[in-house]
Amino acid sequence: MKHLSLFLCQILVFSSLLTIIPSIEGRKFHRGCKKHHKGYEDSCTSISIFNILSFGAKANGVSDDSKKLVATWKAACKVPGGVVQIPSGHKFLLKPVTLQGPCMGHVTLQVDGTLLAQPKIGSWSKSNLFQWINFKWVHNFTIQGSGTIDGQGYNWWKPMKSKYISDIKPTALRFYASEDVTVRDITIRNSPQVHLKFDNSRGVKVDNITISSPGNSPNTDGIHLQNTRDVEILHSNIGSGDDCVSIQTGCSNVHIHHINCGPGHGISLGGLGKDKSIACVSDILVENSNIQNTLYGARIKTWQGGIGLVKNVTFSNIQVANVNFPIVINQFYCDKSLCQNQTGSVAIKEVNFERITGTFSTQPIHLACSDDVPCTGINLSDIQLKPSRGPLEGSQNQEALCSNSYGNSKGPLIPSSMNYCLKKGGGVSVHKFSRSSNELC
Ligand SMILES: *[C@@H]1O[C@H](CO)[C@@H](O)[C@H](O)[C@H]1NC(C)=O
Ligand SMILES: *[C@@H]1O[C@H](CO)[C@@H](O)[C@H](O)[C@H]1NC(C)=O
Ligand SMILES: *[C@@H]1O[C@H](CO)[C@@H](O)[C@H](O)[C@H]1NC(C)=O
Ligand SMILES: *[C@@H]1O[C@H](CO)[C@@H](O)[C@H](O)[C@H]1NC(C)=O
Ligand SMILES: *[C@@H]1O[C@H](CO)[C@@H](O)[C@H](O)[C@H]1NC(C)=O
Repeated sequence: MKHLSLFLCQILVFSSLLTIIPSIEGRKFHRGCKKHHKGYEDSCTSISIFNILSFGAKANGVSDDSKKLVATWKAACKVPGGVVQIPSGHKFLLKPVTLQGPCMGHVTLQVDGTLLAQPKIGSWSKSNLFQWINFKWVHNFTIQGSGTIDGQGYNWWKPMKSKYISDIKPTALRFYASEDVTVRDITIRNSPQVHLKFDNSRGVKVDNITISSPGNSPNTDGIHLQNTRDVEILHSNIGSGDDCVSIQTGCSNVHIHHINCGPGHGISLGGLGKDKSIACVSDILVENSNIQNTLYGARIKTWQGGIGLVKNVTFSNIQVANVNFPIVINQFYCDKSLCQNQTGSVAIKEVNFERITGTFSTQPIHLACSDDVPCTGINLSDIQLKPSRGPLEGSQNQEALCSNSYGNSKGPLIPSSMNYCLKKGGGVSVHKFSRSSNELC
């Protein structure tokens, strides 16, 4: 609530707005402050708070409150420093909504209550399955609070018999073409698919949030980034059925730190270059984090046939516990059992894996790079990975695998097979596309 003090200085502006926009009705303000005449403005601190209950929300978790939310949003969007309040102790069922900017100034969505998606698949409109809560063109926006955003996705996780729904399943919270967005303190859980997605956005901070869905819920990425730059994700707990954080094409300058990841598939770049597409990802730093009970840890995956470049990626100071494959580069990524090899691959260079320690359950390091576009500038330093189940069992492979991977190793490296895993030297790409990857990206 310390934000509210910021609004004090806006009271004068707001008073004059009241006279210009008579359509804003007094009942929509919870003034909590003295009357609006000269001399009292200073004691008024909550003039720009818009409580969804004052807009007629039923708040019973059963009736659809989405129109009320949109109305509340529109009112808050019209004033500088507007706050949309979702009060605690209430549940609000929402159909898919779009909350659109740009707004007059900074807007806050204060979620202290619970927002619920419709649990029945049949009540979703077939024409809008992409996302549930969609923020579009918002600039300078914060969502915060002790509340929960619950996608109630369990029906979407079951194998689908009917063709009614294709592969598309809703993302819980999506930011599209937005800038200067902060997401903090809230819990997002049980999304039908991705929990929190940013696409075509810039200037994102995600701090102190919790994302939670069962480890066996399919494709439920925690945070999904696409065509988004200048991102910081910190001090958050993310556990789901897919990647804790997934970084896709068009992302750069992403800093992830102090994350607890698991269950899930770890922190991943890609799959990049699907269907021969161009992929460019650069300047990614993942550090000071814990990854436990996941299928993968630090991973880069690209499809055969793509073009483009992944460059300057660092995974540093990562504690892993019981992770099947803690360190992975896979240039043969395929979500089916078999994909044909093709010419060309998204090039991968300048990747650091440093200070990665803990336990693995299948294979400590698996770098599978392609013959025609090898991975170059790979650094392995201070990596200490031990089998999580003590003496090796059948499914474990203590040997490090590095194919077509060039770079430098620096000890300590455990298992010791990592010491002679990388090839020395530059590693020359033989494919014509890879030479142009610098210009493409
Ligand atoms: C965002 O809002 C803050 C006030 O909350 C303001 O100081 C800042 O200039 C705004 N930034 C942009 C890009 O509008
Ligand atoms: C993190 O979020 C929780 C839950 O909303 C809140 O209780 C706590 O105060 C927040 N911590 C910080 C450091 O902001
Ligand atoms: C590599 O990425 C990091 C983290 O995003 C950035 O701070 C650094 O400047 C980049 N290095 C180069 C050489 O671009
Ligand atoms: C693709 O190439 C890799 C490396 O040469 C090889 O291990 C793999 O079996 C090939 N896959 C197919 C489907 O041909
Ligand atoms: C890899 O290590 C070498 C030698 O320690 C260093 O010169 C180089 O900058 C490192 N590469 C990256 C991508 O940081």
